[in-house]
Amino acid sequence: MKVAVVGATGLVGGEILKVLAERNFPVTEIIPVASERSVGKQVEFKGKQYTVVGFDDAIKMQPNVAIFSAGGSTSLELAPKFAAAGITVVDNSSAWRMDPTKKLVVPEINAFTLTSEDKIIANPNCSTIQMVVVMNPLHKKYKIKRVVVSTYQSVTGTGKAAVDQLFAEREGRTDVPAVYPHKIDLNVLPHIDVFLDNGYTKEEMKMVNETKKIMLDDSIAVTATTVRIPTIGGHSEAVNIEFENDFDVEEVKNILANEEGIILQDDPKNFVYPMPINAHGKDEVFVGRIRRDETQPNTINMWIVADNLRKGAATNAVQIVEYLAKNNLI
Ligand SMILES: NC(=O)c1ccc[n+]([C@@H]2O[C@H](COP(=O)([O-])OP(=O)(O)OC[C@H]3O[C@@H](n4cnc5c(N)ncnc54)[C@H](OP(=O)(O)O)[C@@H]3O)[C@@H](O)[C@H]2O)c1
Repeated sequence: MKVAVVGATGLVGGEILKVLAERNFPVTEIIPVASERSVGKQVEFKGKQYTVVGFDDAIKMQPNVAIFSAGGSTSLELAPKFAAAGITVVDNSSAWRMDPTKKLVVPEINAFTLTSEDKIIANPNCSTIQMVVVMNPLHKKYKIKRVVVSTYQSVTGTGKAAVDQLFAEREGRTDVPAVYPHKIDLNVLPHIDVFLDNGYTKEEMKMVNETKKIMLDDSIAVTATTVRIPTIGGHSEAVNIEFENDFDVEEVKNILANEEGIILQDDPKNFVYPMPINAHGKDEVFVGRIRRDETQPNTINMWIVADNLRKGAATNAVQIVEYLAKNNLI
């Protein structure tokens, strides 16, 4: 299979190349694509160097699939051009996620809705993916009514320039342009993506709206506060879930422990709980600190961590492509 990676010089693009190699996806040709600034640069795939090309050349090379991680405006402009040339696009940006004609896919939850007609497929927001992966098996068993989530998100979620800002601040350098409106090192910003008229940020509303679309259930109420912290390993989330039905805490742990793609790390007496430093570079979603909310019935608290560049972006996108290939949909 010929695979184009659009945004191959970025943080997510680099991770997509790694994940394709690690999972041994049957790539016959890799086509790295980036902006005009990067055309001619080299990127590595499976120990070999490949030259970055522009989007026109990439379309002419007729890949079967293009995995995009090049920002929303690039996707809005380029994804339809790839799709018109018969190339299936899996897009990591927010450009197509809430378009009612496009599928928003977390493979273990709703890949069964995909058909060969889907030429632009959206990959959800990173903080939403790790939350719904854990919510889905619990929703099937106890039916979720409402979720209150607070996030602690890695600077890698903002891309290369944000990681540069963090390390420049840490090293006392001022030679790097700031991407956040405030210092990020030794600080916490209750602000991810732009503020909307309702007082929430766009990131918060992504968690509200994307959850319903992925889980195919508009009745699930989500309220979110999304926060940037000076870490790089992944996103963490404190999640409070109210169910329709009562549950047993040990049964919840068992359900999650037996779910593919989830790792239960819940042994507080031995200081075992999920942390971004351990999730870094891993494909799974980690869950722990599972305990009953003693203030109201049928409600549970938990702590969910995943590498936003992996399951939150690259791994999920590659899993979509794997599903398409396995089911002859590309
Ligand atoms: N970081 C995350 O955790 C995460 C998670 C989920 C989704 N996403 C989404 O993934 C996308 C990329 O994020 P990132 O963190 O990888 O950002 P990044 O490190 O800043 O990389 C951006 C990439 O897009 C390329 N690009 C920019 N404009 C382009 C154009 N006109 N044509 C072709 N390529 C272009 C850049 O190429 P140059 O090197 O040539 O500039 C670079 O390869 C964003 O839409 C983001 O919202 C990110």
